[in-house]
Amino acid sequence: MDGTVETDRLLLRPLAPDDWRAVHAYASDPGTMRYIPGGALSEAQARALVAGEEADEAHLAVVLKPEGRLIGHMPFHPWYAPRIWEIGWVFDLRSHGRGYATEAAAALLRHGFEALGLHRIIATCQPENIASWRVMEKLGMRREAHFRKCFEVDAATWLDEYLYAILEEDWFAAGPGPIPRSGQPC
Ligand SMILES: CC(C)(COP(=O)(O)OP(=O)(O)OC[C@H]1O[C@@H](n2cnc3c(N)ncnc32)[C@H](O)[C@@H]1OP(=O)(O)O)[C@@H](O)C(=O)NCCC(=O)NCCS
Repeated sequence: MDGTVETDRLLLRPLAPDDWRAVHAYASDPGTMRYIPGGALSEAQARALVAGEEADEAHLAVVLKPEGRLIGHMPFHPWYAPRIWEIGWVFDLRSHGRGYATEAAAALLRHGFEALGLHRIIATCQPENIASWRVMEKLGMRREAHFRKCFEVDAATWLDEYLYAILEEDWFAAGPGPIPRSGQPC
C-alpha cells in the first residue's frame, strides 16, 4: 500500500530502510514474536523486512504521532485472490494494552474498503493469542475457521489457528457501532 493513513494517535506509513533498528528492538524479543511464523527477528531479518524483501508480504510502520516513535508494524497486503487482503499486527511490548492495534487496524480496514475497494480482509492467529483475536473481534471480524494443529512452533509443538474475516458489506452495513472508525485515509 502506498501513501499514509492517520488516526487520532497514530501515523501508518510505508516502512523505510532506517526503521530496521526500531523494528529489531522489539521484534528480536522471542516473547513478542512467539506467535509470528519464524519467531524473533535477527538484525538481517529486520533489515530485510523493512526493505520489503519478504516474498508476498508488505508491512506498514505504526508511528506514535506526538513523539514520532515507531511502535509496531502491520502486514497489509493481497492474499491469494483479487480484492482479498490479509491484515496483521506486531507491536512493541511496551505499547500493548492501550488500544493501538485496534485503532491502527480499524483505520486500515477503512482504507481497504473505502479507498482501495477491497471485498474481504482476513486475519489469522492462534487461540492462545487472546490479545490478537480480541482485536479481530473488536474490529467486527468474524471467526470463520478453526484449523487444527497447523502452526509449527517447534519439532514437538503444533498449535491450532483461527481465521477471521470481514466483508465489504459488513463494513458498510455497520453503523457507528462496534467498529471504531477514527482512521482517515489520506
Ligand atoms: C496482539 C497485539 C498486536 C495487540 O496489541 P494491543 O495494542 O495491545 O491491542 P489492543 O489494546 O487494541 O487490544 C487488545 C485487547 O486484548 C485484550 N487482552 C490482551 N491480553 C488478554 C488476555 N490475556 N486475556 C484477555 N484479554 C486480553 C485487551 O484487554 C484488549 O481488549 P479490550 O480493549 O476489550 O480490553 C499485541 O499484543 C502484540 O503485538 N502481540 C505480539 C505480536 C503478536 O502476537 N501479533 C499477532 C500475531 S497473530
